[in-house]
Amino acid sequence: MAGGFGATTGGTEFEAKITPLVIISCIMAASGGLMFGYDIGISGGVTSMPDFLKEFFPTVYKNQQNPTLSGNYCKYDNQGLQMFTSSLYLAALIATFFASYTTKALGRKVTMLIAGILFLVGTSFNAAAINLAMLIIGRLLLGCGVGFANQAIPLFLSEVAPTRIRGALNILFQLNITIGILVANLINYGTSKLTTGYGWRISLGLAGVPALLLTIGSLIVVDTPSSLIERGKLEQGKAVLRRIRGVNNVEPEYLEIVEANRAAAEIKNPFQNLLKRRNRPTLVIAMMMQIFQQFTGINAIMFYAPVLFQTLGFKSDASLYSAVITGLVNVLSTVVSVVLVDKAGRRMLLIEAGLQMFLSQMGVAIIMGLKVKDFTNNLGHGLGILVLILVCSFVASFAWSWGPLGWLIPSETFAVEARSAGQSIAVFTNMLFTFVIAQAFLSMLCHMKASIFVFFSAWVLVMTLFTIFLIPETKNIPLDEMTERVWKQHWYWKRFMDDYEDEPMGKGQV
Ligand code: BGC
Repeated sequence: MAGGFGATTGGTEFEAKITPLVIISCIMAASGGLMFGYDIGISGGVTSMPDFLKEFFPTVYKNQQNPTLSGNYCKYDNQGLQMFTSSLYLAALIATFFASYTTKALGRKVTMLIAGILFLVGTSFNAAAINLAMLIIGRLLLGCGVGFANQAIPLFLSEVAPTRIRGALNILFQLNITIGILVANLINYGTSKLTTGYGWRISLGLAGVPALLLTIGSLIVVDTPSSLIERGKLEQGKAVLRRIRGVNNVEPEYLEIVEANRAAAEIKNPFQNLLKRRNRPTLVIAMMMQIFQQFTGINAIMFYAPVLFQTLGFKSDASLYSAVITGLVNVLSTVVSVVLVDKAGRRMLLIEAGLQMFLSQMGVAIIMGLKVKDFTNNLGHGLGILVLILVCSFVASFAWSWGPLGWLIPSETFAVEARSAGQSIAVFTNMLFTFVIAQAFLSMLCHMKASIFVFFSAWVLVMTLFTIFLIPETKNIPLDEMTERVWKQHWYWKRFMDDYEDEPMGKGQV
């Protein structure tokens, strides 16, 4: 997940080469993102597989085989089934707090190792599950892994990467999430074809591959200079800085890290600091962006696409390959974002996507409302394809806007002394609302039927208005000029900048 990364622009450029250690870091970013994406994508396919349902959710299995029992919209309305998906996010949000302690006290490397081990154990529980308890314990362990990984990996990367590739690494992480989701969709498609009855075990077990990569990776890498210096290992920190930068003269960067750590140590309570008036705009925007990101309804599709397509009357096979198509659109559209984000700007992408998401969801709501009733389904082939196209249009617009920008904007707007605490709050808020959607969507679908998509499109309307009035453009603005050029100029947020005058020592930005 997008855990959000450090600076994307601005900051001093120190002498640095792309050393093997930096390359290993990219691989770690890849495995962390893949792992998270894989977990997002795998559950929906697995929960639509008859063999899996028969074993763990026999009532849902009966409904699936005989829709006259529960009606089209309520086939999958089961708290346990939703718990299978959502428990991961609940564990992740609780783990985030422990992880913020271990990242500080034990370092990034150890925290990543803990994440890798949790992933491995969780995967084993899932693949070997013989009852629902084992399945949920496995998901909880994976969730703890996500909490630890998402706290440590972004920090690790932003501290290891030379400034000029930091932004690219940020999007790389999001891109890898989408690739992880796609791989999971493809694997589900493949394993659903197995007649052995344990295809779902292979789907869940293959999460062990990125988990192993992360575990081995974290054994190989060294801890970051920042983390070593933070824990008083100054000489070791300097030596590591030389190794990762591949140059001898690291004194200027070393002194800056020491100074940054000294300043950070002065802030006794980072969360209280976050509540200062001048941090209000960034805090509100970071939290609202997470809530909005989840209320686009994206994870209704990412978690439950195969289930949703079955609700629409697609056969099991067609549902799984439709999920593959939406997964592919997700990856490709994230690449569009990489290309456009610094050219078209953040606001432009968010506003365009708002319109596109609104129209696509309303289209789905109208077609479903007219054609798919509780006990009848007149969708037909042509309209079925139209719904798939509309879902793809929705996913595409999400993937070049709220997907990556939901993480990028908070990471580039928090003042340096508020960044780390701010990121934890952003991750926490995201996990909380991801949990809410995962736990509620299938029940909401059962009760609200097609109008669930009207519900999400109403949210899209609200977030687009929020963007128009309250999210400033941060394209090409160096981090250290954010206060002067962005916040102090904004029609609404400028009123929160007055405490800079009251407290001149409070340097807001880098
Ligand atoms: C969101 C996830 C979502 C993913 C889809 C991320 O930015 O945080 O909740 O599943 O995008 O690609």
